Amino acid sequence: MSITLGIDIGTSGTKTLAIDERGTIVASSTAEYPCDHPRPGWSEQDPEHWWVATVETVQQVLGSGRFHPEDVAGLGLSGQMHGSVFLDAAGRVLRPALLWNDQRTAAECREIEEKAGGREALIRLVANPALTGFTAPKLLWVRRHEPQNWDRVRQVLLPKDYIRYRLTGTFATEVSDASGTLLLDVANRRWSRELLDKLGIDPALLPPCFESPEVSAAVSELGAGATGLRAGTPVVGGGGDQPAGAVGNGIVRQGVVSATMGTSGVVFAHTDQLGFDPLGRLQRGCHAVPGAWHVMGVVLAAGGSFQWFRNELGKAEVALAKQRGDDPYFLLTAEAALVGPGAEGLFFLPYMTGERTPHFDPNAKAAWIGLTVRHGRPHLIRSLLEGATFAMRDSLELIREMGVAIEQVRVSGGGARNVLWRQIQADIYGCDVHTLNSTEGPAFGVALLAQVGTGGFASVPEACDATIRAVDSTRVDPAARSYYDRAYGVYRRLYLDLRDSFQAISALVQEP
Ligand code: XUL
Repeated sequence: MSITLGIDIGTSGTKTLAIDERGTIVASSTAEYPCDHPRPGWSEQDPEHWWVATVETVQQVLGSGRFHPEDVAGLGLSGQMHGSVFLDAAGRVLRPALLWNDQRTAAECREIEEKAGGREALIRLVANPALTGFTAPKLLWVRRHEPQNWDRVRQVLLPKDYIRYRLTGTFATEVSDASGTLLLDVANRRWSRELLDKLGIDPALLPPCFESPEVSAAVSELGAGATGLRAGTPVVGGGGDQPAGAVGNGIVRQGVVSATMGTSGVVFAHTDQLGFDPLGRLQRGCHAVPGAWHVMGVVLAAGGSFQWFRNELGKAEVALAKQRGDDPYFLLTAEAALVGPGAEGLFFLPYMTGERTPHFDPNAKAAWIGLTVRHGRPHLIRSLLEGATFAMRDSLELIREMGVAIEQVRVSGGGARNVLWRQIQADIYGCDVHTLNSTEGPAFGVALLAQVGTGGFASVPEACDATIRAVDSTRVDPAARSYYDRAYGVYRRLYLDLRDSFQAISALVQEP
């Protein structure tokens, strides 16, 4: 038996799962942790939470009794992208990690574009414009605002790579996650010495960069003692959660696109060529498939908006669900199903932590627009699901505009588990959407990468072909589609109409 583990360091929790050589999941465990927002627009997490959750979930999976630690041929790591963990010379964490949805770095983004010689020049170097969530602006922010920490920084790691360090004692990353740092020469799949020089960042702060299925390190005695894994277990490069999730969804050829509603919402396409867009409207990066790239659009708070609703306005459903052993999201979507497409003219903009694609606006805010006395909770919930889905359509439209073929849309994440949200997605995207036999996304993707890296499969596409297939499809309802096509035009205007007001609100909140 050749078992591999996949460990995904998410924003709301860590998931560890074990698969066998046929891709069957034999054990799985998750542990949650909080996310801190110390100021408006800021988003931080203590990396120690990730480690505690990793230890707990790995122990649980190993304790499932379904296999022995000696059966584990290898493991893969995946995680929330762009976050930065700052370590001192002794490998200690210097401050909480700044996360992918942190918006404090607008000034640093401008600085990066200037130093690179303008936006287009920057995109030529690293395939992306400077976005507030990316890693490089976080480095500049700490350098400017916390010089006492910056002077002691000796290594900067992405979230999953910090867990690699704790498990193996080795500093390493891989190309798919490194693409989201804004410091990778994405075309050539290596750190951009040119941009590092221009920004005055010492390349020694960054770890060696591998391909995703390549073995990067092995579990140390210390890592083995903490988790119960066998010392020497190979650890492959793994992937950022989106490229890893794409592998888990079988997005390893052109034409098949995924729409994933997690905390963030992501539309992801595999590309055989890197391509170039002087405006940088979509994120581009190395895929977890060697020799391939990806384009993606990211909605910062898709499932995250619904999670906020559950936490703040769905307390009764949370309590009831707990009593019944049910899922509060199912109770909430059952309410939403009481009203029809469009929620009687109510719109929701899901910009709860600013927005990335397509607006690149850290000041964007969420809003309900069109409220009347006829509206109740079902309308609020339905419009929220629709608003998050309209935001995803923005990315889908950009991918279409760039000439990337879309033959099949595969849905995953929380938004795919729910019948109503699946239907809303089909009707708003304007095409049938497909669900898969595998629903575990990134953790499954990196467990597959570990199978490839340890010889279980010859290539990533081969691993995907052997284990992943579409099992169900949700068909477009033509009447709902035609309504949503018209409503989408209104949705698109709302942000433009409100943009200046969002800016003014941010200025108000930032005033002392
Ligand atoms: C991708 C992105 C998010 C995070 C968290 O660019 O910012 O999807 O990876 O999931």
